Amino acid sequence: MAHSEGQGERGTGTVVVVGGGLMGSGIAHAFLVAGRRVELLEVDASVAAASRARIRQHLEESARRGRLEEGVERAMSRLEVHKSGDALAAAEDVAVAIEAVPEMVPLKLEVLALLERVVPEEALLATNTSSIAIGELAAGLARPGRFVGLHFFNPVPASLLVEIVVGATTTPATVERARSLVEPLGKQAIVVRDSPGFATSRLGVLLGLEAIRMLEEQVATPEDIDRAMTLGYKHPVGPLHLTDLVGLDVRLAVADYLRPLLGERFEAPSLLREKVARGELGRKCHRGFFSYPEP
Ligand SMILES: NC(=O)c1ccc[n+]([C@@H]2O[C@H](COP(=O)([O-])OP(=O)(O)OC[C@H]3O[C@@H](n4cnc5c(N)ncnc54)[C@H](O)[C@@H]3O)[C@@H](O)[C@H]2O)c1
Repeated sequence: MAHSEGQGERGTGTVVVVGGGLMGSGIAHAFLVAGRRVELLEVDASVAAASRARIRQHLEESARRGRLEEGVERAMSRLEVHKSGDALAAAEDVAVAIEAVPEMVPLKLEVLALLERVVPEEALLATNTSSIAIGELAAGLARPGRFVGLHFFNPVPASLLVEIVVGATTTPATVERARSLVEPLGKQAIVVRDSPGFATSRLGVLLGLEAIRMLEEQVATPEDIDRAMTLGYKHPVGPLHLTDLVGLDVRLAVADYLRPLLGERFEAPSLLREKVARGELGRKCHRGFFSYPEP
């Protein structure tokens, strides 16, 4: 049965998430905690199983913090995880499909084309891209009016913000439906016109790149560069620590994407490239600008 317009906004309708990495598993967790059914698609069954285990861990953490009254098993019972390309278990009952695959245009275009074929016409289509223009991703879609950026932040459970990025073809109704999807997650939405780096990446990446340049120039230690912002400007996290959290590879990809669009100030410092080449990708690899003990 095709669900009626607005059903998703009232809290029903499955949320399909493609890519169960850092962000996709966080997005899945947020919707599960809010009582939604979630269907997560991954490259193969073993990666899908790893995503499922990660989501369970996040839910256990929420339960420990008293933020999951119904309990882990009940929330997990609303999660379906499988290989991308298999038929959707949710069939017609999809409120939104959100892609959270790596930041590569051809891959995202391929995933969105697949989603357009398998999700019902009424469902929203969304991308969690941190930097790619919504217009560029919408270009391959037959019905781009329902396509919107839903930019979640890392770590998803702790972040209060979702950036709704409005492409030239996104309809006003899609923007309102996007807002009503994310607000029950306890997050606030800001609405941003499709422009390079949106609001957050444009400001955040620039600050991070400048902090790395300051480190190259030995202006101060990494700890003190971060303290300049945490103590001096009341940022909750310093720019180098935040780069470690986001992933140095993710930040480098965003900088390289924005450089030709926004100019030299987005040129990636050599130190960032060197660290990425050495595999020092930040907290996920236990080493970035700071070191993190292995569990
Ligand atoms: N890392 C961050 O802090 C952050 C913050 C906001 C937005 N983003 C954006 O979110 C997206 C995902 O980033 P991430 O950090 O979660 O990456 P990640 O590498 O942790 O996860 C990506 C996942 O996508 C899966 N995948 C790849 N191809 C696939 C396909 N065809 N079908 C299904 N799954 C596929 C991979 O197996 C992997 O598990 C990117 O667009 C990134 O720019 C990242």
